[in-house]
Amino acid sequence: MKKILFLSFFIIFLGDIYGQKPYVKPEFAKNWSNPGKHPDHIVLNFSDDPSSTISVTWRTNKDVKSGYAEIAKATADPKFIAERRTYDAKTEVFDFSDVVQNGTFSDEKVDFDDLYSHYHSVTFTDLNPNTVYGYRVGDGKIWSEWIQFKTASNKPDPFSFLYVGDAQNYILELWSRLIREGYKKAPNASFIIHAGDLVNNAHNDHEWHEWYMAGGWIHRSLPSLSIPGNHEYRPQVQKDLDEKISRLSIQWNHQFTFPDNGVKGLEETVYYVDYQGVRFIGLNSNLMIEEQTVWLEEVLKNNPNKWTVVVYHHPLYSASRGRDNVELRSKWKPIFDKYKVDLALQGHDHAYTRGRVSSYEENLVSGQNTKNLTGTVYVVSVSGGKMYPLKDGWNQYDALRDRAGQNMQLFQVITVDGNKLSYQAYTAIGDLYDSFDLVKGENGLNSFVERKYEAY
Ligand SMILES: [Fe+2]
Repeated sequence: MKKILFLSFFIIFLGDIYGQKPYVKPEFAKNWSNPGKHPDHIVLNFSDDPSSTISVTWRTNKDVKSGYAEIAKATADPKFIAERRTYDAKTEVFDFSDVVQNGTFSDEKVDFDDLYSHYHSVTFTDLNPNTVYGYRVGDGKIWSEWIQFKTASNKPDPFSFLYVGDAQNYILELWSRLIREGYKKAPNASFIIHAGDLVNNAHNDHEWHEWYMAGGWIHRSLPSLSIPGNHEYRPQVQKDLDEKISRLSIQWNHQFTFPDNGVKGLEETVYYVDYQGVRFIGLNSNLMIEEQTVWLEEVLKNNPNKWTVVVYHHPLYSASRGRDNVELRSKWKPIFDKYKVDLALQGHDHAYTRGRVSSYEENLVSGQNTKNLTGTVYVVSVSGGKMYPLKDGWNQYDALRDRAGQNMQLFQVITVDGNKLSYQAYTAIGDLYDSFDLVKGENGLNSFVERKYEAY
């Protein structure tokens, strides 16, 4: 009887996605996501100047007391590894024992000792710009494969990057195809921006494991720039549940190594990175908005880069009903306008919208975007399997939405080349869905060239 109840629990009718055919949710084997002696959850991050440094983090079980990472300039000759440098890792204990909603199975006796893990991190320094390196991580005996990446140029050379909205749901089932298609479309992308809600339940180790499995070696080859969404905040221990307090995913600070140049109290969730003429600013739209507003203005005021891209989770102009974020819009939009932010990459709404709603005073004329100049372009996109219906346009905000769609997993490829920024949104099967170019003029204003694709 218990077995029947258990099975029926996993047979879910998800009419909005799968129609009426019963769908059996995948079941994970016991201990599927537990760490072992072999390094896993290997992820690359920028933690400082990307032309000379890069950071890598990985996970092992608690038996691996120390970690090492090795790096060498890669060549065609496999003997490049002879020239390797070895770094000692910083090792942190990951104590999972009191974490609620942790992804373990309620009907299994869990040995929490198995869930203790060690996270190891290394920042490689003194790298040469625009150079391919190979690196590996391990404990001195058990090692990962040699993994290649390329450092940034120290000049504003052309480059591309990927941007994805919420992975969050059906991560292994359906986000996997999306991120792999993205890599196929832009194999030379320099990094991936994840605009929050990477998982559904902040502290759930199974979901994080799904994220690593779905991305596979992409996560260890292309650096990730991630900021947290609302789903990265959940009660962590029983007391939090009782008092209705949410905390940042317990995995976040252990597994990522982002720049320490943000707001105190929001470490590794608010930061900026300069990459080949573009300032990328990550914001945490969940909390401490006032403090971030002050910081944001400072970071924009002292910005020597030609282009500016901001990324945060909750959209200033929402795509789906009942999800307006008035406080964020009132605090951040005036600053984006003042400092001519070019592009705002957002998530959260599980649909697609793109619009130009502000201006450097010129671009919105009586509710219509003028077609030749533009202020900040705002995008909402979703990459995982959960979909919400679109709501009406942005008229209520005295703004105009240029492009909107629903029921599509999407990834974006964005290329910056001198005075031109080219944006393309692709579906999960690799079809072009949306595209525009921004062309920077002498006065810092962007000309806007739009191309819509009506196939969807
Ligand atoms: Fe969200």
